[in-house]
Amino acid sequence: MEFTEFRVTTRVMAGIDLVDSLDWELGRAGLDRGLLVTDAGIRHLAERARRAAPRRVVGVYDAVTPNSAVAQVEETARLAQELEVGFLLAVGGGSVLDTAKAAAIVITEGGGLLDHQGVNVLTRPLVPVVAIPTTAGTGSEVTAYAVIRDETARSKLTFSSEHLVPVMAILDPTLTVGMNHELTASTGIDALTHAVEAFVSTKAGPFSDALALAAVDGILSHLPVVLKDGSDIGARWQMLTASCLAGLAFSWAMVGCVHAMSHACGGLCEVPHGIANAILLPHGLEYNRVACEEKFEVLRRRMGDDPVAVVRSLLAQLGLPMRLRDVGVREEDLPALAELAMLDGSIYSNPREATLEEIVAVLRAAY
Ligand SMILES: [Fe+2]
Repeated sequence: MEFTEFRVTTRVMAGIDLVDSLDWELGRAGLDRGLLVTDAGIRHLAERARRAAPRRVVGVYDAVTPNSAVAQVEETARLAQELEVGFLLAVGGGSVLDTAKAAAIVITEGGGLLDHQGVNVLTRPLVPVVAIPTTAGTGSEVTAYAVIRDETARSKLTFSSEHLVPVMAILDPTLTVGMNHELTASTGIDALTHAVEAFVSTKAGPFSDALALAAVDGILSHLPVVLKDGSDIGARWQMLTASCLAGLAFSWAMVGCVHAMSHACGGLCEVPHGIANAILLPHGLEYNRVACEEKFEVLRRRMGDDPVAVVRSLLAQLGLPMRLRDVGVREEDLPALAELAMLDGSIYSNPREATLEEIVAVLRAAY
């Protein structure tokens, strides 16, 4: 390790019923005239946020869907521009948070979203985003990324910039108690995938490692608890904070081949992100094992058994789909999925330098 860097720029707050203090927190940050971004399925949670700060929210966009798309980002930006808003208030899961973050690019820089692809394209602060996650998995409330589906190209685009980091994250576990079993399980596995991939990444460093290991502990201890009793507010709190810790870890350490393949499955076959990660995580870990044996040993001591065995045993309790063939992927899609994965930014920090043939083989093992 020759160089390492770490910074947290989001003001992160966690507390039970903290969303009810939204007006005070927005006032402290000087944020006025917000557009609430959410999805129709969790409108009741978004309404709770709006009721908490009625004078500061001047409009609502609630048409975000899973695997958020370019069109929704641009609609959000148009509405925000019409209303001349001063900030975006994102209340939802990863798709909602990423839609708001990507919309901030269009609001500030103009044009269409696709005009702003590439590295170091964003050079100035964007309209601020306040993130209130309603799932415990994405970590997007603190990351510098927004992943958006390009419907035309049927692929996922990752936007990456320090300017995409939300200014404030409010972690309120009471917003996550209503998640059903599948959403709790799949988003929890997404968080675990962030933590494990960040830990073995070529970009990992001492700061991201500490956060990644704390996240692994939190998720392995508390995901089974919330799956047994979704109303356990203490365990929901632990999952929400662990997911945020994992987000902080991978914001600097990046992720790896599991996310590269999972983005491909989401883009081409519309497999939900957490489900794709759940299917691919044991296969990606097994593939990476030879390239990161020391890190695997740390994980083995931490987890109490071989990391792949622990992940498989956790997955067996979750009842999620176990194979790509079960979630709409066709065997003839595998080569195209591998090609998309090889183009995904996440592949560059994978501990094992992957070839196209090897990624096809990993996908085939997961098929
Ligand atoms: Fe993820």
